[in-house]
Amino acid sequence: MSEIERVGVVGAGLMGAGIAEVCARSGCDVLVVEQNRDAVELGSRRLLGSLDRAVRSGKLTTAEREQAAWRLRWSTDLGDLADRQLVVEAVGEDEQLKTDVVGTVCKVLTDRDAVIASNTSSIPIMKLATATDRPGNVVGLHFFNPVPVMPLVEVVGSLTTSPRTRDRVESFVTRRLGKQTIRATDRAGFVVNALLVPYLLAAVRMVESGTATAADVDAGMRLGCAHPMGPLELCDLIGLDTVTAIAESMYAEYHEPLYAPPPLLRRMVEAGLYGRKTGRGFHPYPSKKEEAA
Ligand code: CAA
Repeated sequence: MSEIERVGVVGAGLMGAGIAEVCARSGCDVLVVEQNRDAVELGSRRLLGSLDRAVRSGKLTTAEREQAAWRLRWSTDLGDLADRQLVVEAVGEDEQLKTDVVGTVCKVLTDRDAVIASNTSSIPIMKLATATDRPGNVVGLHFFNPVPVMPLVEVVGSLTTSPRTRDRVESFVTRRLGKQTIRATDRAGFVVNALLVPYLLAAVRMVESGTATAADVDAGMRLGCAHPMGPLELCDLIGLDTVTAIAESMYAEYHEPLYAPPPLLRRMVEAGLYGRKTGRGFHPYPSKKEEAA
């Protein structure tokens, strides 16, 4: 079977833009699909900003940045993905939305061996596979935020994922993208989120109950346990909307109280306090303009 060279990414939010970036930096031809021109504009600014950051920190040369940007194309039409060998779905953590995208992508792909991967954090891969007529080609590829920095990808096979598909994407992720993989079974939360999410929710409950402030909870885990960031800073990085959606999927799967999103988290999402992406979550993230003022 031919090596994967032509990659499609659906969704150019934090995760989709990061996945498209690492694929383009690894020499793949990448087509990114977003739902409208504004989303394309925002996603491409996010991605090019990240490439610029890599140039500033000496991880990329200017020539490599140009080559990566040149390998990226943008579209608002899922039909343009027809010739892709691998499509990674990275839309919002919503089961219906993901099912629709995966079903449509499967219909447009002309290569019968093409792989359809989902970057879902918690939705069972089987639910997405059953939306297609080739469930053997559907697999979970779960990247971590920030994608250009975090070395791990969870590879999640469902009951119907073919060993060929799993081997093919594992080889692509390790040999082409230079990331490390771990295998997880198709259970909500896989390996990492099954451990991480209860910890994040416990930190939210600690703030909610007045045990400690967000700043002190974060300082506690940074300074006391040498974590690179505290749990509430991490919630802000992931996005409180995403943390809530993941927790809800896990609660739906296991019905364990430790996965239930606490009321404070829900209220913050209802208020649009999503974290870094909206400028405020458990901590404020003023824009450059606001900082200057
Ligand atoms: N995009 C690209 N590169 C970034 C970046 C971003 N958003 N944020 C930071 N970086 C790079 C910087 O350029 C820098 O690179 P150099 O060392 O080459 O200069 C490096 O990362 C370190 O960045 P900083 O010095 O600015 O900041 P830091 O040392 O505080 O590190 C961090 C930032 C990498 C985010 C670090 O705090 C960290 O590792 N945090 C934990 C992240 C984590 O746990 N992610 C997993 C979240 S869970 C998930 O994603 C799965 C899910 O389903 C929810």
